[in-house]
Amino acid sequence: MRLRGRKNIRESLERQPDLVVLEPQKLKGRWHEYFGNDHPIHIELGMGKGQFISTMSGTNEQINYIGMDIFDELIRRGSEKARKVWREKGSEEVPNLALVRGNVEQLELMFEPGELARIYLNFSDPWPKSKHAKRRLTHPRFLLKYKEALDEYGEIHFKTDSLSLFEFSLNSFSDTGLQMKNISLDLHRDGIRHDLVLTEYETKFSGQGMPIYRLEAAIGDRIVAEHRARIAEEFAEQARRAEAREQTLDIENN
Ligand SMILES: C[S@@+](CC[C@H](N)C(=O)[O-])C[C@H]1O[C@@H](n2cnc3c(N)ncnc32)[C@H](O)[C@@H]1O
Repeated sequence: MRLRGRKNIRESLERQPDLVVLEPQKLKGRWHEYFGNDHPIHIELGMGKGQFISTMSGTNEQINYIGMDIFDELIRRGSEKARKVWREKGSEEVPNLALVRGNVEQLELMFEPGELARIYLNFSDPWPKSKHAKRRLTHPRFLLKYKEALDEYGEIHFKTDSLSLFEFSLNSFSDTGLQMKNISLDLHRDGIRHDLVLTEYETKFSGQGMPIYRLEAAIGDRIVAEHRARIAEEFAEQARRAEAREQTLDIENN
């Protein structure tokens, strides 16, 4: 990406310390203090122009949001978007959102273990060449970083237009012991899902009729264990019912 007016963009970011965080390492372990409450923190890694995270912040005031990207210009655009969303709600402030200029590679320098509750990966770069597989944000080496930063109920919500990235990610999530749920191979098959907030890329690709792949993955130890215990209990209940049915049939046949 070619960045124009780099100095102006940086100055614009420096003028917005209430919304833009340029040195996230300094907030490691202090994000709840930064937001001024104990609400859960959800982060979008690679937020692009910020449509998704800005809309989410305006819609769910009881959640703290962080939008992260590597490019200053995208953070600037995100700040405009976020202010617009909140201005339309009658507020000059954006109380529950931080836009962070940062690289996912350095996630552990920005967050203490368990500081985050949910990670959104929306239309992450697919890096189609296999020699670049390690750069994909769903590669196991990133999943280990996410597991560390997320709390014991932590989840990853992932959507993409790239079938090859989705296939790679299913394997990666499975290899890393995540519990996947709500898998969709065509999220908007029956028309645009207006109950879900769309990203810029999603608006574009679904508008062109392309399928959007989506899943949720439980990664925190406690949520994975609870999910598995629930499934085991459902199986056990089904087995009990089947046995009871058989016993009834035996009695009727005798
Ligand atoms: C294809 S865009 C998707 C943007 C947005 N999430 C959407 O769905 O419209 C991917 C974004 O991820 C950002 N990105 C890629 N690698 C990153 C990394 N290592 N750390 C932070 N952001 C990254 C890019 O700068 C880009 O804005």
